[in-house]
Amino acid sequence: MSKGKTLLNWIDERFPLSSSIKEHLTEYYAPKNFNFWYFFGSLALLVLVMQIITGIFLTMSYKPDASLVPGTSVSVAFASVEYIMRDVGGGWIIRYMHSTGASMFFVVVYLHMFRGLIYGSYKQPRELLWLFGMLIFLCLMAEAFLGYLLPWGQMSFWGAQVIVNLFSSIPVIGPDLSVFIRGDFVVSDATLNRFFALHVIAVPLVLLALVVAHILALHEVGSNNPDGIEIKNNKDPVTHIPRDGIPFHPYYTVKDILGVAVFLIVFSAIVFFAPDMGGYFLEANNFIPADPLKTPPHIAPVWYFTPFYAILRAVPSFLNTQVWGVLAMGAAVVVLFLLPWLDRSPIKSVRYRGPVFKVMLALFVVAFIGLGVLGALPTTNVRTVVAQILSVIYFAFFLGMPIYTRYDKGSVPVPVPERVTESTLKRKVTFLVLVLVVIAGAVAFATTI
Ligand code: HEM
Repeated sequence: MSKGKTLLNWIDERFPLSSSIKEHLTEYYAPKNFNFWYFFGSLALLVLVMQIITGIFLTMSYKPDASLVPGTSVSVAFASVEYIMRDVGGGWIIRYMHSTGASMFFVVVYLHMFRGLIYGSYKQPRELLWLFGMLIFLCLMAEAFLGYLLPWGQMSFWGAQVIVNLFSSIPVIGPDLSVFIRGDFVVSDATLNRFFALHVIAVPLVLLALVVAHILALHEVGSNNPDGIEIKNNKDPVTHIPRDGIPFHPYYTVKDILGVAVFLIVFSAIVFFAPDMGGYFLEANNFIPADPLKTPPHIAPVWYFTPFYAILRAVPSFLNTQVWGVLAMGAAVVVLFLLPWLDRSPIKSVRYRGPVFKVMLALFVVAFIGLGVLGALPTTNVRTVVAQILSVIYFAFFLGMPIYTRYDKGSVPVPVPERVTESTLKRKVTFLVLVLVVIAGAVAFATTI
């Protein structure tokens, strides 16, 4: 026996190494028709690892301290970020990888969630997998919000001020809750210290545990696929292997390398050539040290929060309280948790659904992107009305679902096939045209509104 094999045997007698590799990789049978949309799970894992590694290195030089550097009006925290950018060897690339990683995390996760939406991956038996995903999404939002305070720039300070103040509009507990979050009556050094602790250790720990639970739940029920067929229902009687399944390793590990390569090209282009992405990934105001006496003229959250922020602003303040907007914003996230129970169609994939679902889905995409654009702009009367219409569409997609998915099933143009299908040229062209229409529409909307 070779030395390697002897070592492996020695480990296997003490730790389930080979059996775990078999169970989760070489003998985990994934549907053979995975397409473009299935790149984003592995990419989310990649970004998660990148954020943790770059975050560890940033923590080595960053100081969570809001007191001023003697003789200046710059905080120690802000100065430590400048120090990382200018003096720490390789500090600039670590910082830009981390800030770009934050935005790219949301790009990847939004596309990953959208895949779940179009192929019905949240439906039975994957409800728990979806719920773990949603908890991950909540953690991710918390992690991004907490991290944004750390550079202690103008946007860090005032963004935190606006968001924490929202909590104070909650009846009864609101005012105490916002003091509890801040650790003070205003955003201060105490806030910075607790946000640092939560950002660096508490939330990432929960995030990691949830990602493990997410993958375990996935491997318990098996992956869905673009046709929405359960491949476990059609197994070879002798080998008991799903007829439409292929081992995850080597087939999908190799396929995922392609996704990783393309992703890293895009990622590097941003890090090296446009790390602030024209103000969308890093806002200009955040290169100015926090000044508690000077409010920036226009406070907007980073792009990944803007759809929810637009919903918040779209709701008028009845009876002098902002609480309705806060509730609507919360409901916009909570409603996603309920998706597995709102959708009553027996069909999973959009490919075989009726026209009403397809139209509602298209409207939802328009509403989500439209709200994202509006949330980044200062309000005007027209914009507020448009945001109100788009918010109604957003909620109608979810709340109308129990009704329209029930009636839509009678009008399926193509029946769900028995076995998975290959992607056709027609499907690829349709997909490309749709992507181009969405991009052109978003740009046209952003420039005219
Ligand atoms: C840190 C963030 C996340 C990571 C690392 C992650 C990782 C993964 C991986 C590796 C897969 C299998 C590969 C694939 O199907 O693409 C997967 C599947 C899945 N994820 Fe996530 N995920 C994350 C966030 C989310 C979120 C926020 C949701 C939704 C709320 C979600 C819902 C799902 C669903 C429904 C599947 C099964 C899809 C199918 O089989 O069609 N995930 N995830």
